[in-house]
Amino acid sequence: MLNRGKKKEEVFELLSEYKEMDLDYSSGKILGSMCTKPDPIGLEAYKMFIETNLGDSGLFQGTALMEQEVIKSLGELLHLPNAYGHIVTGGTEANIMAISAAKYIFNSKKSDAVPEIILPVSAHFSFKKIISMLSLKPVYVPLDENYKMDVSKIEELITEHTMAIVAIAGTTELGMVDNIEEISEIALRNDIYLHVDAALGGFIIPFLENKNNDNLNFDFTCEGVSSITIDPHKMGLAPVPAGGILFRHKCYLEKLAVKTPYLTRPKQTTIVGTRTGAATAATWTLLNYYGKEGYKKIVNEAMELTDYTYNKLLDMEHIHPTCKSELNLISFTSDNYDVDVLKSELLKYGWRVSVSENPHAIRLVLMPHVKKEHIDNFLKNLEELLKRG
Ligand SMILES: Cc1ncc(COP(=O)(O)O)c(C=O)c1O
Repeated sequence: MLNRGKKKEEVFELLSEYKEMDLDYSSGKILGSMCTKPDPIGLEAYKMFIETNLGDSGLFQGTALMEQEVIKSLGELLHLPNAYGHIVTGGTEANIMAISAAKYIFNSKKSDAVPEIILPVSAHFSFKKIISMLSLKPVYVPLDENYKMDVSKIEELITEHTMAIVAIAGTTELGMVDNIEEISEIALRNDIYLHVDAALGGFIIPFLENKNNDNLNFDFTCEGVSSITIDPHKMGLAPVPAGGILFRHKCYLEKLAVKTPYLTRPKQTTIVGTRTGAATAATWTLLNYYGKEGYKKIVNEAMELTDYTYNKLLDMEHIHPTCKSELNLISFTSDNYDVDVLKSELLKYGWRVSVSENPHAIRLVLMPHVKKEHIDNFLKNLEELLKRG
């Protein structure tokens, strides 16, 4: 740290240099991210509430009220108007909260057992962190031929130590939605906590036009679902950090309660203490500004572009899409290139694609900052590579 500060102009010149090093979503080159360019309306609200701290919500009662309204709106979207929860930093924190609550519930019944958590091999890596943090025993379920959790294998994996089942509504790698209805039946039958990670799908599935949605039912209408992660900072277009966690019952959220003697409210039910209210304000604003109709349009445009891209890839010689995603993702391999080599070749053109592990493939996420002209350019560059390869 400097002894004596610099002039503001000097500092901001340096800031611009750092900013130059960053990629910009508007370039259309970011093809592997689950976040996107924040909506300007949400950003305006974010800036307006930048100094708020929901960790001490007695000081920011308007923001706290907005958080309650956001949770109610998200609950309505997921068919549980009186859901309980919070706007948190992202899907990771939301998942930590859900599984922590499940562990408290489990421990109150069976205190000496090592809790087991049943989850698909497609679960997001945040669960690896959770398993380690909470000292859980993971019990992995293989995927079926559609890259979904193999429901037929779940029941045989349940033991008296099973604390929770996790299912995914929109896998990170392929955008597949587990069969939550059937998994919910299993959870109910065996009296086990069921958490649905819909970090990505939560802001997509309810708005799908050509849904097929009956077989994508993932929300609280499935009675065995105890909690759902749904992230505004993914397809909700909110600025980072905006994750969402919803619990079916107040007593689940209350399991996380800690007394906060020096603050303006007697307790917190979040993992973090000090937390921004700006993300809540942005989410509240976007939900009110867009409404269901607005989100339907955003989601279906992304889905149309996904279909367009998928069909183009399907027609391309030497390219093999690995599966048809239920959300806005695409994965493919090429018989001309090793996946990692193709990724680096695409990078030479500036394309930031990602790579999935299972199956090992190039992975694209068609978020709203990706437009048709970007995809057309991408496909042109891909074709050039294939000709050379
Ligand atoms: C299904 C799923 N769950 C959880 C997460 C973690 O979310 P975050 O990075 O916001 O913590 C992701 C991130 O992409 C995800 O795809």
